[in-house]
Formats: sequence, C-alpha cells, structure tokens
Amino acid sequence: MKVGIILGSIREERAGEQIGKWVYDEAVKHGGAEFELVDLREFNVPLLTSSTHPAMANGKYDSAEVQAWGDKINEFDAYIFVTAEYNHGVPGAFKNAFDSIANEWMNKRVAFVGYGAANGVRSIEQWRTIVANMNMWDIRSTVELSLFLDFGDNGFEPLDRRPGELGVLIDQLVA
Ligand SMILES: Cc1cc2nc3c(=O)[nH]c(=O)nc-3n(C[C@H](O)[C@H](O)[C@H](O)COP(=O)(O)O)c2cc1C
Repeated sequence: MKVGIILGSIREERAGEQIGKWVYDEAVKHGGAEFELVDLREFNVPLLTSSTHPAMANGKYDSAEVQAWGDKINEFDAYIFVTAEYNHGVPGAFKNAFDSIANEWMNKRVAFVGYGAANGVRSIEQWRTIVANMNMWDIRSTVELSLFLDFGDNGFEPLDRRPGELGVLIDQLVA
C-alpha cells in the first residue's frame, strides 16, 4: 500500500514543514506501508477557476499545475493529511487543492494529523465532512499536536506519546 503524507500548509516559515517531516520519518520507522511526503507548496495549485467540474474532467485538467497535483495524488492508495487550522476551519489553500481534482481521491482512505492552538481538532472534524463527498474512508484515530505542548525552544519537540499515537493511526489506516 502506498500512503501519501500530504503537507497542506503553503505559508512561509510554516510550522507544518517540521511536522510533515516528522510524520514521514516516524511512518517509515513504523512501517506497514510505503510512505511519501507530498508538499502541496511544490505544486503551486492555482485557485479553482476552471469551468469544468473536476469530477467531470476524467483526470485531464486545463492547468499543468493541477495536472501534476492530480497525477501525484493518484499514485496513492491512502493519505495522511497534515493539516493546520485557520479560523476554526481547514486551511483555504489545502481545501482549494482538494477541490481542484476529484477522481484521484475517490474511495480511498484518509487519516489526519492536526496541529494548532487547539490541536487542529476543529479542522480535522471539518475535513471529515469534506472527504465524505469523495466517498473517502476516514480513520477515527488522529494525532492532535499542540503549538504549546509539542513545540519548544528548538521548534517541534513532540511529546513522548506522539509516536505511539501515530503508530495507531497508521495501523488503522493500513488495516
Ligand atoms: C489565518 C490564520 C488563522 C488561524 N486560525 C487558527 C485557529 O482558528 N485555530 C488555531 O488553533 N490556530 C489558528 N491559527 C494559528 C495556527 O495554528 C498557527 O499559525 C500554525 O503555525 C499554522 O500552521 P502553519 O504554520 O503550518 O501554516 C491561525 C493561523 C493563521 C495564519
């Protein structure tokens, strides 16, 4: 099984970068699947303006950037969304990238690693209702990281229990 770890924050100096790398490193250590870190920022997905509904595009998109994004997402059987929380919801750029393609997500499994002042919980719960429209199978177990407790003087310093939590998430995603 191939699992795409989607780093969904594109901001300069984003906290998500350290978290995405940690998720990838821990996932490889844990094993059970093949993992790849996919950085949304590298794809420069434009705002969705195409007149063609992505679900009607049959995987062929007007924009070269969207095509590259869709082709990458299509490579995976399952995903771990590494998601921030912006204004009590999912980050706009990540949602736009999710909306810009369609069939690539369909019927696949997805689990969530959230982070924020409130551990990304509201964002994760919004994602669950969003991914339902792609008939995705969302995993109950989450990793919810705190900007206060999981960050220290040297940046991201996850609590001791986080690798175990991620391991449970991966086991359930793979199962
Ligand atoms: C536009 C914006 C809105 C935010 N809203 C929330 C929020 O509602 N809840 C929260 O816990 N943190 C919020 N934050 C703080 C983020 O959790 C924090 O900036 C985090 O580093 C964002 O992830 P990123 O750096 O990977 O983009 C917000 C940050 C931004 C930039």
